[in-house]
Amino acid sequence: MSGPVQAPLVDARGRLKRKLRVSLTDRCNLRCHYCMPEQPRWLPKAALMSREELRRLVGLFVRALGIAELRLTGGEPLLRPDLEDIVRELGALRAQGLERIALTSNASRLAPRAAALRAAGLDDLNISLDAIEPERFRALTGGALAPVLAGIAAAVAAGLPLKLNCVLIRGANDDQVLPLHQWARERGLPLRYIEFMPLDGRQSWAPEKVYREDEIIAQLSALEPLRALPRGHDPAAYYASADGYRVGVISTISKPFCSRCDRLRLDARGQLYTCLFSAQSCDLLTPLRAGADDAALLALIRNAVWHKPAGYAEQPGYVERTITMHHLGG
Ligand code: GTP
Ligand code: 5AD
Ligand code: SF4
Repeated sequence: MSGPVQAPLVDARGRLKRKLRVSLTDRCNLRCHYCMPEQPRWLPKAALMSREELRRLVGLFVRALGIAELRLTGGEPLLRPDLEDIVRELGALRAQGLERIALTSNASRLAPRAAALRAAGLDDLNISLDAIEPERFRALTGGALAPVLAGIAAAVAAGLPLKLNCVLIRGANDDQVLPLHQWARERGLPLRYIEFMPLDGRQSWAPEKVYREDEIIAQLSALEPLRALPRGHDPAAYYASADGYRVGVISTISKPFCSRCDRLRLDARGQLYTCLFSAQSCDLLTPLRAGADDAALLALIRNAVWHKPAGYAEQPGYVERTITMHHLGG
């Protein structure tokens, strides 16, 4: 058993790690162009961490390395029938320093499970919503909009705080900026626009397809004056209107925030990625299955984190690697 946090988890550039994103599956029921390859090849079940292995690794990150916030991702995490159990089991780590368990989901299968997830201890969730017109939504994601809206309504009814995420691609959905803003604002739901990143499964990204933060803010400012808020550790830059409604933009491409990055990623196979754009990972599952003790696993993690790359800011453009966004969970 590892003891309490020994030393803060930092990389060689002095960036402290507080957040761990854990992908629970690479599978998804949608096919967002900006995320999925045309013909995804799913990971075999045997390659995935068991719940017990997941608990052991996440437990180390929390107890011994000071990770305070978890975000469960996919693919689509709701494809895991045991998601409520996972949330409940990880909740036991609250006694050891865990402050938050969040989820990122497409929400298309959320409606029947929102209340159970809340009861299991889920703190909040981020929901992808790239268009508010059904045909446009289907063209972007391959799925229906109505169940997603039902999922959002169910989350609100269950008292789950949520944020909406909209990935913008020039020529595909930049005309949704205002309709989505209006829809979200009327419901008081925070919305963040996301610049298209070169991590899609179809290699269709190009710099000219990025609909930038300044263009988004120009569209919104035509409606009402917006005030830029001070930056925190959230990947989004926030702007507030006079009545306090906040809109965010995650501008990885036009204004990378790598120098403040406080997150790590663990994929469903127990591979640690220290950066969203890393080509390399650190395999934690193989040593765990071979009987490595906590000290050995902690040494592997600390070493990988220490060598975390500078990030997109220093190496923009496509990364040559075998996994795509659906695998790493954004
Ligand atoms: P909170 O800040 O905890 O609310 O979550 P989040 O915004 O990190 O989570 P979410 O899954 O909603 O991610 C929204 C978008 O931000 C996705 O497109 C992610 O890929 C992107 N994102 C999240 N973390 C990072 C990061 O470390 N670097 C970059 N470049 N993008 C990130
Ligand atoms: N660029 C930007 N954001 C992306 N996401 C998935 N693929 C991309 C991409 N290529 C986002 C999803 C989701 C989050 C987990 O990652 O919209 O909100
Ligand atoms: Fe599925 Fe999310 Fe990727 Fe869309 S972005 S295909 S919902 S994992």
